[in-house]
Amino acid sequence: MSKKTWYGLASVLVVAAVVLSACGGAATEAPEQALAVGIVLPTREEPRWIQDETRFRDALGAAGYEVEILFSQGDSARERANVEDLITRGVQVLIICPQDATAAAAAAEAARAAGVRVISYDRLIRETEAVDYYVTFDSIAVGAAQGQYLVDHATGSGNPLYLYAGAATDNNAFLFFEGAWNVLQPRIADGTFVIVNSSEAVALQGEATLTRDQMGQIIGQITTNWDFNTAKSLAEANLTAAAAADKGDVFILAPNDGTARAIADAFLADGDVTSYVVTGQDAEIASVQYIIDGKQSMTVLKDVRTLVADAIAAAIAYLEGRTPPQTTTYNNGVIDVPAVPSAVIAVDRDNVVEAIIDSGYWPASEFTGLP
Ligand code: BGC
Repeated sequence: MSKKTWYGLASVLVVAAVVLSACGGAATEAPEQALAVGIVLPTREEPRWIQDETRFRDALGAAGYEVEILFSQGDSARERANVEDLITRGVQVLIICPQDATAAAAAAEAARAAGVRVISYDRLIRETEAVDYYVTFDSIAVGAAQGQYLVDHATGSGNPLYLYAGAATDNNAFLFFEGAWNVLQPRIADGTFVIVNSSEAVALQGEATLTRDQMGQIIGQITTNWDFNTAKSLAEANLTAAAAADKGDVFILAPNDGTARAIADAFLADGDVTSYVVTGQDAEIASVQYIIDGKQSMTVLKDVRTLVADAIAAAIAYLEGRTPPQTTTYNNGVIDVPAVPSAVIAVDRDNVVEAIIDSGYWPASEFTGLP
């Protein structure tokens, strides 16, 4: 974002700051430049959102603005309370990543009713008209990159394939799975892979494209709920149920880095598993280390700096009475929400230095044994 944009916004901000400080009590000093924007993130328990918080604070701090960032801690009621709090404090734009796509509709509607612009951040709020804009990565491309990585590392036929998914309350879990299925299904149909751990996926393996309901049936069986412990227990249960012939050299679609590490640990501990290829996403520091150490195969880098910059630019566009850019739309069950999805990059041991270190995403000092 250009400095000019920020300075041009100063008048709006000063007005907002006066409003905010007036709410907080007597304004004795020159008002701080509080941005008339509030941010609500789903939970501190999933490392991804700490990345977003940090990158938001870095971007806004560098520009000299204060902004409120609230966490919902996996609780839709708390999310609603966070939104009500921000409305009361006079925010004009809400940037919100829903904990539960459908449950967040009520909070979005409350914001809309108060004249607040609603930007759905990373995850789409579903089943409501009260979403102005969607700031997102190309989540279909994330799943496609994961599926393609498995395809590129499989030879011959009959390779055991274990499928895992994110939380069914998260619209992204469907997009990731759809992207992966698009790539994997033809290679299941041609015998390259054999699905081991999902009878629902086996029942639908002849379908090149799946309806949302069909994906829901599969996801219901293979969901990690984005939770490490759930992921680990599910992987252990799957391995206990699997015959030795369904082990050996295996392929694992894991939806994100936290669940990938948990699932990888379960497969590492199984004596009948000779090797595994496992996917991930988010380029979490712990997973980049797992990739360097050969314990996780790949991750998908979603450069959160880009998403944060896009969200701030969209918020400023609304504050200045403009409309943020749009290249596509995402249907949320009720309306098509305008968006500009950001590109993603597949990262493994071969390009980890270039993609993660040289790009400035994480400093080399975070890791040991870099190739
Ligand atoms: C995000 C992922 C994240 C997951 C769990 C998804 O909506 O897009 O980056 O790993 O939620 O928090």
